[in-house]
Amino acid sequence: MSDFTFLKGSADWWRQAVVYQIYPRSFADLNGDGIGDLKGIIGKVDYLASLSIDAVWLSPFYPSELADGGYDVADYRDVDPRIGTLEEFDELVEKLHARGIRLFVDIVPNHSSDQHVWFQEALRSPKGSRERARYIFRDGRGENGELPPSELASHFGPEGWTRVPDGQWYMHLFTKEQPDFDWSNREVHEEFLQTLKFWSDRGVDGFRIDVAHALVKDLEPLPIRSSYSLEVMKADGTDPLFDRDEVHEIYREWRQLFNRYDPPRVAVAEAWVHPHRRPAYASIEGLGQAFNFDLLTSQWDADAFRGVIDDNLAFAHKTGSSSTWVMSNHDVIRHATRLVIPAGKEGVTFDAENHWYVNHRLDGDLDLAKGLDRAKAATLLMLALPGSSYLYQGEELGLPDVTDIPSDRMQDPQWFRSEGKFKSRDGCRVPLPWESSGPSFGFGPGGSHLPQPSWYANYAVSVQDGKAGSTLELYRAALAIRRKLIQGEKLSWLPSTQGTLWFEREGGWSSFTNFTDVAVALPAGEVMLASSDVSGGKVPANSTVWLKLS
Ligand code: GLC
Ligand code: CA
Repeated sequence: MSDFTFLKGSADWWRQAVVYQIYPRSFADLNGDGIGDLKGIIGKVDYLASLSIDAVWLSPFYPSELADGGYDVADYRDVDPRIGTLEEFDELVEKLHARGIRLFVDIVPNHSSDQHVWFQEALRSPKGSRERARYIFRDGRGENGELPPSELASHFGPEGWTRVPDGQWYMHLFTKEQPDFDWSNREVHEEFLQTLKFWSDRGVDGFRIDVAHALVKDLEPLPIRSSYSLEVMKADGTDPLFDRDEVHEIYREWRQLFNRYDPPRVAVAEAWVHPHRRPAYASIEGLGQAFNFDLLTSQWDADAFRGVIDDNLAFAHKTGSSSTWVMSNHDVIRHATRLVIPAGKEGVTFDAENHWYVNHRLDGDLDLAKGLDRAKAATLLMLALPGSSYLYQGEELGLPDVTDIPSDRMQDPQWFRSEGKFKSRDGCRVPLPWESSGPSFGFGPGGSHLPQPSWYANYAVSVQDGKAGSTLELYRAALAIRRKLIQGEKLSWLPSTQGTLWFEREGGWSSFTNFTDVAVALPAGEVMLASSDVSGGKVPANSTVWLKLS
C-alpha cells in the first residue's frame, strides 16, 4: 500500500511528500541573461527526477518589478517575460507530470505589486472610489494630512504607510511597492478565486500561500505597530493585523474550489503564528497544511529537536493533517551555515535578532565542515519523520550561505530598508553551481544576477554527481530509500543516551541522530544509510544513521 504508485494516485499524495523549492530566478538560466528561466527548469527535469522528489514548488515567476524578489506580483495569471511564457509553463507542467512530479505555485494574496493594474487604477482614481477600495487607502493625520494615518512600521522597516500625490496614504506591511489588499472587499475574494482556478485548470497540483495569516485585518481603529516579532502578536485570534480567526473563512471558500478537482488541489500556508494557532491553517476544511518553521529557529540540540517534533506531531494529529518540516528556504540562512551560528537569545533560537549576522557575517569564521555534517544529519533526521519535507534548491549540494555579498550587489529590500539591521536573504538566493567552471558555474551561458563566490566550484552538481560520499548522492539515496520505506505516519521514540535521538517508524526501520561532538555507540540494526562513515561501529559526531531493526 505504501509504495510510490499509491502515493501518486491518491488524494492523500501530499501527506508525506517531499517538495523541492525552486527559486526560479536562481535555478538555471537557458538564454544567458543572468536570470533563471522556465526553459532552464525544463532542461533540469531529469535532474529533478533523479532526486526522487514528489513535487516542485516554484517561488513567484509572475511579472514583477522585483522590489521583493518576485513577491511583488504585477499579474497573477502570467509569466514574467524575463522568465518565460505561459506556453513554457504548460510545457513544464507536462514534463514534470510525465516524470511523476507534481507542481506547487506560490500565491501572494496579502499584497500585490504597485505595478498591478488594480493599484495603477487606484492611483488614477479619486479618494473613496471603488478602485481605491481594493487596497487600504486612508487620510493622514495632522493639519494637512501630512502624518501617516497610524504609527505603523513595515516588516522590512521603516514605515508601513506611503503617501500618494493627492495626499492619501496606503498601507503596506512589506515594501512600499507591495500595497496590501483590503480583504473585506468581495472583489478581492473573487479575483483570487479566479487566479486559483486559472492555475488549477492548467494542471497545478498545489499552492503555497504567502503570509497566509495577514489577509484579514481590523482597521478600526487603524493598527499601531512598531515590531513584527511573534511576541507582540496576540495569540487568541484578535490581533488587529495577524492570524485573526476570520481569515479561515477565506480558506474555507478556497477549499470548496480545491475540492472540485480530482485529486483535490492542495495548499500549504506560510503562517508565522504562535505554534498552537497553526493547526487551524492546516485544517482539512481550510488550506490543509501549514509550514512548521520550528526547526528553522531551533538550535542544534537533541532536546530542542525532540520538543519541536513532539509538539508538531501533536498539532498535526489535532487537525487530521500531516506535519511539515523545513530546514532551509529562500528567506533564511542556509542550514549548512545556520547550524553553526552561535546561539542567540537564551541559547534557544539560532539568531532571531540577526545579532550574529549583522555583526559577524564578514568575519564569522564559522566551522563550515561541522556545519555540513550537522546539515546532513538534520536532513536525514527530517526525512525520517512522518509528514512532508520541504527542501530548498541547493541544499542537496550542501551549499553554505554566501554571507559576504558586497552591499552594492545585494538585492533584498529587507537589507536596504532596515539599513543593514536585518539580514539580507540574498545569501541563499545565489544562482546554483551546476559546473565547476564557466561564466556562472553552469547556471547559464552568461553571468549571474547575484555574484557567485569562487568556492561555489567545489559544490557544483558536476563535481558531486555519481561521487560516493557526496552530499548530492546522500540526498539521492535518502530520498530513494525513503520512498520505499514510508508507510504509516506513526513515530515511536526508542531509548537513547543524552544528546542523541532515536525513533522507530512503521515497517521496522529507525533513525538515530548523534547531536554531540563525540562519537557514540552504533545502535543494533542493519545500517541502511548514514550521513557520515559508521564503518568503525560508532556513530560519529553530528551524524544520523538509518537502521533496519531486526
Ligand atoms: C513571505 C516570503 C518572503 C516575502 C514576504 C512578502 O514571507 O517568503 O520572501 O518577502 O512573504 O511577500
Ligand atoms: Ca534567462
